[in-house]
Amino acid sequence: MYNRPRRNRKSSVIRDLVQETHLTTNHLIYPIFVVDGKNKKETIDSLPNIYRWSADLLLKEIEECLKLGIRIFDIFPAVDDHLKNSTATYSYADDNFYLEAIRSIKENFPEAVLMSDVAMDPYSSDGHDGLVLNGEIDNDQTLPILARMSIAQAQAGIDIIGPSDMMDGRVGYIREELDLNNFSNVSIMSYCAKYASAYYGPFRDALNSAPKFGDKKTYQMNPANKQEALIEAELDISEGADMIMVKPATLYLDVIHLLKENFQTPITAYNVSGEYAMIHAAAQKGWLNYENAMAEMLLSIKRAGADGILTYFAKDYAKLARNI
Ligand code: PBG
Repeated sequence: MYNRPRRNRKSSVIRDLVQETHLTTNHLIYPIFVVDGKNKKETIDSLPNIYRWSADLLLKEIEECLKLGIRIFDIFPAVDDHLKNSTATYSYADDNFYLEAIRSIKENFPEAVLMSDVAMDPYSSDGHDGLVLNGEIDNDQTLPILARMSIAQAQAGIDIIGPSDMMDGRVGYIREELDLNNFSNVSIMSYCAKYASAYYGPFRDALNSAPKFGDKKTYQMNPANKQEALIEAELDISEGADMIMVKPATLYLDVIHLLKENFQTPITAYNVSGEYAMIHAAAQKGWLNYENAMAEMLLSIKRAGADGILTYFAKDYAKLARNI
Protein backbone atom coordinates (compact mmCIF):
# COMPACT_ATOMS: atom_id res chain seq x y z
CA MET A 1 0.00 0.00 0.00
CA TYR A 2 1.41 3.38 -1.00
CA ASN A 3 -1.46 5.35 0.46
CA ARG A 4 -2.45 4.96 4.05
CA PRO A 5 -4.76 7.81 5.02
CA ARG A 6 -4.48 6.68 8.63
CA ARG A 7 -0.92 8.12 8.76
CA ASN A 8 -2.50 11.60 8.78
CA ARG A 9 -4.56 10.60 11.81
CA LYS A 10 -1.82 9.03 13.91
CA SER A 11 -1.51 11.75 16.57
CA SER A 12 -3.52 14.71 17.73
CA VAL A 13 -0.78 17.08 16.50
CA ILE A 14 -0.91 15.66 13.00
CA ARG A 15 -4.69 15.57 13.07
CA ASP A 16 -4.66 19.27 14.01
CA LEU A 17 -2.21 20.03 11.19
CA VAL A 18 -4.49 18.60 8.53
CA GLN A 19 -7.81 19.71 10.02
CA GLU A 20 -9.91 21.28 7.25
CA THR A 21 -12.63 23.11 9.14
CA HIS A 22 -12.16 25.46 12.06
CA LEU A 23 -14.85 26.92 14.25
CA THR A 24 -14.03 29.69 16.70
CA THR A 25 -16.07 32.06 18.84
CA ASN A 26 -15.65 34.63 16.03
CA HIS A 27 -18.19 32.61 14.07
CA LEU A 28 -20.85 32.42 16.76
CA ILE A 29 -23.94 34.55 17.33
CA TYR A 30 -25.70 34.05 20.66
CA PRO A 31 -29.52 34.32 20.74
CA ILE A 32 -30.73 35.98 23.95
CA PHE A 33 -34.25 36.51 25.33
CA VAL A 34 -35.13 39.69 27.16
CA VAL A 35 -38.17 40.33 29.34
CA ASP A 36 -39.61 43.49 30.92
CA GLY A 37 -38.89 44.28 34.57
CA LYS A 38 -35.96 44.11 36.98
CA ASN A 39 -33.90 41.36 38.53
CA LYS A 40 -35.48 38.62 36.42
CA LYS A 41 -33.80 35.42 35.29
CA GLU A 42 -36.61 33.14 34.18
CA THR A 43 -35.97 29.53 33.22
CA ILE A 44 -37.47 27.95 30.08
CA ASP A 45 -38.29 24.25 30.56
CA SER A 46 -37.56 23.20 26.98
CA LEU A 47 -34.32 25.25 26.75
CA PRO A 48 -32.04 24.18 29.62
CA ASN A 49 -29.54 26.87 30.75
CA ILE A 50 -31.21 29.53 28.57
CA TYR A 51 -33.10 32.29 30.36
CA ARG A 52 -35.38 35.24 29.85
CA TRP A 53 -33.38 38.12 31.29
CA SER A 54 -34.51 41.52 32.45
CA ALA A 55 -32.27 44.24 31.01
CA ASP A 56 -30.34 44.86 34.27
CA LEU A 57 -29.25 41.21 34.60
CA LEU A 58 -28.77 40.89 30.87
CA LEU A 59 -25.90 43.39 31.08
CA LYS A 60 -23.99 41.01 33.37
CA GLU A 61 -24.71 38.10 31.04
CA ILE A 62 -23.42 40.08 28.03
CA GLU A 63 -20.29 41.00 29.97
CA GLU A 64 -19.66 37.33 30.76
CA CYS A 65 -20.14 36.37 27.11
CA LEU A 66 -17.77 39.09 25.90
CA LYS A 67 -15.13 37.70 28.26
CA LEU A 68 -15.64 34.30 26.65
CA GLY A 69 -15.08 35.82 23.20
CA ILE A 70 -18.73 35.91 22.09
CA ARG A 71 -19.24 39.32 20.51
CA ILE A 72 -22.46 39.09 18.51
CA PHE A 73 -25.89 38.77 20.09
CA ASP A 74 -29.32 38.23 18.55
CA ILE A 75 -31.83 39.73 20.98
CA PHE A 76 -35.48 38.58 21.16
CA PRO A 77 -38.27 40.10 23.27
CA ALA A 78 -40.69 38.06 25.39
CA VAL A 79 -43.69 40.38 25.32
CA ASP A 80 -46.57 40.21 27.77
CA ASP A 81 -49.90 39.22 26.17
CA HIS A 82 -51.63 42.47 27.15
CA LEU A 83 -49.18 44.44 24.97
CA LYS A 84 -49.88 42.37 21.86
CA ASN A 85 -52.38 43.40 19.18
CA SER A 86 -53.19 42.53 15.59
CA THR A 87 -50.89 45.21 14.12
CA ALA A 88 -47.91 44.71 16.48
CA THR A 89 -47.79 48.41 17.41
CA TYR A 90 -45.78 47.68 20.56
CA SER A 91 -42.83 46.70 18.33
CA TYR A 92 -42.09 50.39 17.75
CA ALA A 93 -43.66 51.96 20.86
CA ASP A 94 -41.56 54.65 22.57
CA ASP A 95 -41.57 52.83 25.91
CA ASN A 96 -40.80 49.40 24.42
CA PHE A 97 -38.60 47.57 26.97
CA TYR A 98 -36.79 45.66 24.19
CA LEU A 99 -35.64 48.86 22.50
CA GLU A 100 -34.60 50.24 25.90
CA ALA A 101 -32.58 47.07 26.56
CA ILE A 102 -30.79 47.48 23.22
CA ARG A 103 -29.94 51.10 24.07
CA SER A 104 -28.58 50.12 27.43
CA ILE A 105 -26.43 47.26 26.07
CA LYS A 106 -24.96 49.57 23.40
CA GLU A 107 -24.23 52.25 26.01
CA ASN A 108 -22.46 49.81 28.30
CA PHE A 109 -20.77 47.65 25.67
CA PRO A 110 -20.31 49.62 22.45
CA GLU A 111 -18.03 46.85 21.17
CA ALA A 112 -20.85 44.27 21.23
CA VAL A 113 -22.55 43.72 17.87
CA LEU A 114 -26.31 43.47 18.24
CA MET A 115 -28.73 41.82 15.89
CA SER A 116 -32.51 42.02 16.03
CA ASP A 117 -35.36 39.87 14.84
CA VAL A 118 -37.87 41.52 12.54
CA ALA A 119 -41.23 39.75 12.37
CA MET A 120 -44.60 40.44 13.93
CA ASP A 121 -44.98 37.25 15.97
CA PRO A 122 -43.60 38.33 19.38
CA TYR A 123 -45.92 41.37 19.31
CA SER A 124 -48.90 39.94 17.44
CA SER A 125 -52.10 38.79 19.15
CA ASP A 126 -52.41 36.30 16.25
CA GLY A 127 -48.93 34.86 16.80
CA HIS A 128 -48.13 35.17 13.10
CA ASP A 129 -45.11 36.82 11.48
CA GLY A 130 -47.32 38.87 9.16
CA LEU A 131 -50.54 40.83 9.38
CA VAL A 132 -53.66 38.64 9.52
CA LEU A 133 -56.57 39.92 7.41
CA ASN A 134 -59.67 37.74 6.95
CA GLY A 135 -57.81 34.71 8.23
CA GLU A 136 -54.90 35.13 5.79
CA ILE A 137 -51.42 36.61 6.06
CA ASP A 138 -51.36 39.79 3.97
CA ASN A 139 -47.91 40.16 2.48
CA ASP A 140 -47.88 43.77 1.26
CA GLN A 141 -49.63 45.31 4.26
CA THR A 142 -47.09 43.63 6.53
CA LEU A 143 -44.13 45.38 4.88
CA PRO A 144 -44.69 48.89 6.35
CA ILE A 145 -45.06 47.37 9.84
CA LEU A 146 -41.77 45.48 9.44
CA ALA A 147 -40.07 48.64 8.17
CA ARG A 148 -41.35 50.71 11.09
CA MET A 149 -40.11 48.04 13.52
CA SER A 150 -36.71 48.05 11.77
CA ILE A 151 -36.36 51.84 11.96
CA ALA A 152 -37.18 51.78 15.69
CA GLN A 153 -34.52 49.10 16.21
CA ALA A 154 -31.99 51.05 14.18
CA GLN A 155 -32.72 54.16 16.25
CA ALA A 156 -32.08 52.11 19.39
CA GLY A 157 -28.62 51.16 18.04
CA ILE A 158 -29.04 47.75 16.39
CA ASP A 159 -26.14 46.85 14.09
CA ILE A 160 -27.81 44.08 12.07
CA ILE A 161 -31.50 43.80 11.23
CA GLY A 162 -32.69 40.19 10.95
CA PRO A 163 -35.97 39.90 9.03
CA SER A 164 -37.29 36.43 9.96
CA ASP A 165 -40.82 36.84 8.65
CA MET A 166 -40.42 35.43 5.10
CA MET A 167 -42.74 38.01 3.48
CA ASP A 168 -41.90 38.62 -0.19
CA GLY A 169 -40.06 41.85 -0.91
CA ARG A 170 -39.31 42.71 2.69
CA VAL A 171 -35.55 42.97 2.35
CA GLY A 172 -35.78 45.63 -0.38
CA TYR A 173 -38.57 47.46 1.43
CA ILE A 174 -36.66 47.58 4.72
CA ARG A 175 -33.37 48.52 2.97
CA GLU A 176 -35.04 51.47 1.28
CA GLU A 177 -36.68 52.71 4.48
CA LEU A 178 -33.43 52.34 6.44
CA ASP A 179 -31.54 54.36 3.83
CA LEU A 180 -34.23 57.06 3.69
CA ASN A 181 -33.87 57.42 7.46
CA ASN A 182 -30.07 57.75 7.36
CA PHE A 183 -29.36 54.21 8.50
CA SER A 184 -27.36 53.15 5.48
CA ASN A 185 -24.76 51.63 7.83
CA VAL A 186 -27.22 49.23 9.41
CA SER A 187 -26.80 45.74 7.94
CA ILE A 188 -29.46 43.24 6.93
CA MET A 189 -29.03 39.54 7.60
CA SER A 190 -32.07 37.99 5.98
CA TYR A 191 -33.61 34.76 7.12
CA CYS A 192 -33.55 33.66 3.52
CA ALA A 193 -34.24 29.93 3.43
CA LYS A 194 -36.38 29.61 6.52
CA TYR A 195 -38.33 26.37 6.63
CA ALA A 196 -41.71 25.63 8.25
CA SER A 197 -40.00 23.47 10.83
CA ALA A 198 -41.14 21.44 13.84
CA TYR A 199 -37.91 22.45 15.56
CA TYR A 200 -38.95 25.97 16.63
CA GLY A 201 -41.11 24.61 19.48
CA PRO A 202 -38.88 25.54 22.45
CA PHE A 203 -38.35 29.07 21.03
CA ARG A 204 -42.12 29.57 20.86
CA ASP A 205 -42.33 28.36 24.48
CA ALA A 206 -39.70 30.95 25.43
CA LEU A 207 -41.60 33.82 23.83
CA ASN A 208 -45.13 32.44 24.16
CA SER A 209 -45.39 33.25 20.44
CA ALA A 210 -46.98 30.16 18.86
CA PRO A 211 -49.56 30.94 16.12
CA LYS A 212 -53.08 31.27 17.53
CA PHE A 213 -54.51 29.51 14.47
CA GLY A 214 -53.13 27.45 11.61
CA ASP A 215 -49.42 27.15 10.87
CA LYS A 216 -46.72 29.15 9.07
CA LYS A 217 -46.68 27.11 5.85
CA THR A 218 -47.96 29.94 3.62
CA TYR A 219 -44.79 31.92 4.27
CA GLN A 220 -42.07 29.62 5.64
CA MET A 221 -40.64 27.13 3.15
CA ASN A 222 -41.62 23.53 2.55
CA PRO A 223 -38.89 21.29 4.09
CA ALA A 224 -38.97 19.21 0.89
CA ASN A 225 -37.68 22.06 -1.28
CA LYS A 226 -34.12 22.98 -2.19
CA GLN A 227 -34.34 24.73 -5.59
CA GLU A 228 -36.68 27.22 -4.00
CA ALA A 229 -33.85 28.24 -1.63
CA LEU A 230 -31.93 29.44 -4.72
CA ILE A 231 -34.87 31.66 -5.71
CA GLU A 232 -35.12 33.10 -2.19
CA ALA A 233 -31.37 33.74 -2.02
CA GLU A 234 -31.28 35.43 -5.40
CA LEU A 235 -34.14 37.73 -4.42
CA ASP A 236 -32.79 38.65 -0.97
CA ILE A 237 -29.32 39.38 -2.35
CA SER A 238 -30.72 41.48 -5.21
CA GLU A 239 -32.80 43.42 -2.67
CA GLY A 240 -29.72 44.26 -0.62
CA ALA A 241 -29.18 41.53 1.98
CA ASP A 242 -25.61 41.72 3.34
CA MET A 243 -25.77 38.17 4.68
CA ILE A 244 -28.26 35.37 4.11
CA MET A 245 -29.37 32.69 6.52
CA VAL A 246 -30.50 29.09 6.37
CA LYS A 247 -32.73 27.86 9.20
CA PRO A 248 -32.78 25.32 10.83
CA ALA A 249 -29.16 24.29 10.37
CA THR A 250 -28.32 20.60 10.75
CA LEU A 251 -31.38 19.23 8.96
CA TYR A 252 -30.61 21.59 6.06
CA LEU A 253 -26.85 21.16 5.60
CA ASP A 254 -27.49 20.43 1.92
CA VAL A 255 -29.18 23.82 1.56
CA ILE A 256 -26.29 25.61 3.29
CA HIS A 257 -23.90 23.86 0.91
CA LEU A 258 -26.01 24.68 -2.13
CA LEU A 259 -26.19 28.40 -1.32
CA LYS A 260 -22.48 28.54 -0.50
CA GLU A 261 -21.67 27.02 -3.91
CA ASN A 262 -23.95 29.41 -5.77
CA PHE A 263 -23.52 32.80 -4.07
CA GLN A 264 -20.68 34.98 -2.82
CA THR A 265 -22.73 36.63 -0.09
CA PRO A 266 -21.76 35.38 3.41
CA ILE A 267 -24.04 32.66 4.76
CA THR A 268 -25.12 32.04 8.32
CA ALA A 269 -27.15 29.17 9.73
CA TYR A 270 -29.53 29.20 12.67
CA ASN A 271 -28.97 26.18 14.90
CA VAL A 272 -32.48 26.41 16.30
CA SER A 273 -34.03 25.76 19.68
CA GLY A 274 -35.18 22.21 18.84
CA GLU A 275 -31.68 21.19 17.76
CA TYR A 276 -30.35 22.47 21.08
CA ALA A 277 -33.14 20.81 23.07
CA MET A 278 -32.58 17.41 21.40
CA ILE A 279 -28.95 17.23 22.45
CA HIS A 280 -29.76 18.38 25.97
CA ALA A 281 -32.52 15.82 26.35
CA ALA A 282 -30.33 12.95 25.15
CA ALA A 283 -27.41 14.09 27.33
CA GLN A 284 -29.67 14.33 30.39
CA LYS A 285 -30.61 10.71 29.86
CA GLY A 286 -26.95 9.80 29.54
CA TRP A 287 -27.45 8.73 25.93
CA LEU A 288 -25.07 11.26 24.36
CA ASN A 289 -21.96 13.04 25.58
CA TYR A 290 -23.10 16.67 25.71
CA GLU A 291 -19.85 18.42 24.78
CA ASN A 292 -18.86 16.03 22.01
CA ALA A 293 -22.33 15.99 20.48
CA MET A 294 -22.50 19.80 20.57
CA ALA A 295 -19.03 20.29 19.04
CA GLU A 296 -19.72 17.80 16.24
CA MET A 297 -23.08 19.40 15.47
CA LEU A 298 -21.60 22.92 15.23
CA LEU A 299 -18.62 21.72 13.20
CA SER A 300 -20.94 20.03 10.68
CA ILE A 301 -22.70 23.35 10.06
CA LYS A 302 -19.40 25.12 9.45
CA ARG A 303 -18.16 22.29 7.22
CA ALA A 304 -21.32 22.50 5.12
CA GLY A 305 -20.40 26.10 4.31
CA ALA A 306 -21.84 28.42 6.95
CA ASP A 307 -19.67 31.42 7.73
CA GLY A 308 -21.49 32.15 10.97
CA ILE A 309 -23.74 30.14 13.27
CA LEU A 310 -26.52 31.39 15.51
CA THR A 311 -26.61 28.95 18.37
CA TYR A 312 -27.81 28.56 21.96
CA PHE A 313 -24.63 26.50 22.45
CA ALA A 314 -22.44 29.60 21.99
CA LYS A 315 -21.43 29.93 25.65
CA ASP A 316 -20.83 26.23 26.17
CA TYR A 317 -18.85 25.99 22.93
CA ALA A 318 -16.73 28.99 23.93
CA LYS A 319 -15.96 27.38 27.26
CA LEU A 320 -15.07 24.10 25.56
CA ALA A 321 -12.86 25.81 22.98
CA ARG A 322 -11.04 27.72 25.72
CA ASN A 323 -10.83 24.75 27.99
CA ILE A 324 -12.80 26.24 30.88
C1 PBG B 1 -39.76 34.50 14.67
C2 PBG B 1 -38.66 33.52 14.85
C3 PBG B 1 -38.75 32.15 15.15
C4 PBG B 1 -37.46 31.71 15.38
C5 PBG B 1 -36.61 32.79 15.18
N1 PBG B 1 -37.37 33.89 14.83
C6 PBG B 1 -39.95 31.29 15.34
C7 PBG B 1 -40.86 31.04 14.22
O1 PBG B 1 -40.62 31.41 13.08
O2 PBG B 1 -41.93 30.51 14.51
C8 PBG B 1 -37.07 30.32 15.81
C9 PBG B 1 -35.75 30.18 16.47
C10 PBG B 1 -35.51 28.92 17.21
O3 PBG B 1 -36.30 27.95 17.17
O4 PBG B 1 -34.48 28.85 17.90
N2 PBG B 1 -40.23 34.71 13.42
